[in-house]
Amino acid sequence: MIHSVALGADHGGYELKEAVKKHLEERGVAVTDFGTHSAASVDYPDMAVPPCEAVLRGEAEAALLFCGTGVGISMAANKIRGIRACCCSDVFSARYTRLHNDANALCMGGRVVGPGLACELVDAFLDAEFEGGRHAARVAKLTEIEEKY
Ligand code: RB5
Repeated sequence: MIHSVALGADHGGYELKEAVKKHLEERGVAVTDFGTHSAASVDYPDMAVPPCEAVLRGEAEAALLFCGTGVGISMAANKIRGIRACCCSDVFSARYTRLHNDANALCMGGRVVGPGLACELVDAFLDAEFEGGRHAARVAKLTEIEEKY
């Protein structure tokens, strides 16, 4: 189970981040919020980096990232060596990206999912543990690709 998270959002994900943050605090998860802190326009690549760096430094176990679709901020996060980010709008994928991909970032779209579903996605993601085994060899291949390119 994941007990600490770093949050990041652009303006398209700001409101959803705030809703998820409240849920996380009620759940007792340690939260570091890297913004954005208003609905003013900001660029999603800029907002992906600080929470992902916090994960790489070991200050949070995972990043929860939000933009309008969840897609742009997931693309930015996946450019960062050591980050495995998944953009999800269904609970099955949010759970299995932890079980099989050892994902350390979950991305959601504020214009795609509502707050109720987002909290279910987050719970599924936080509660699932990487299964290792044959999946560890596959995740190692992701790292090989990252190192090659
Ligand atoms: C911002 O308008 C929007 O493009 C951004 O939040 C995101 O959806 C990009 O993928």
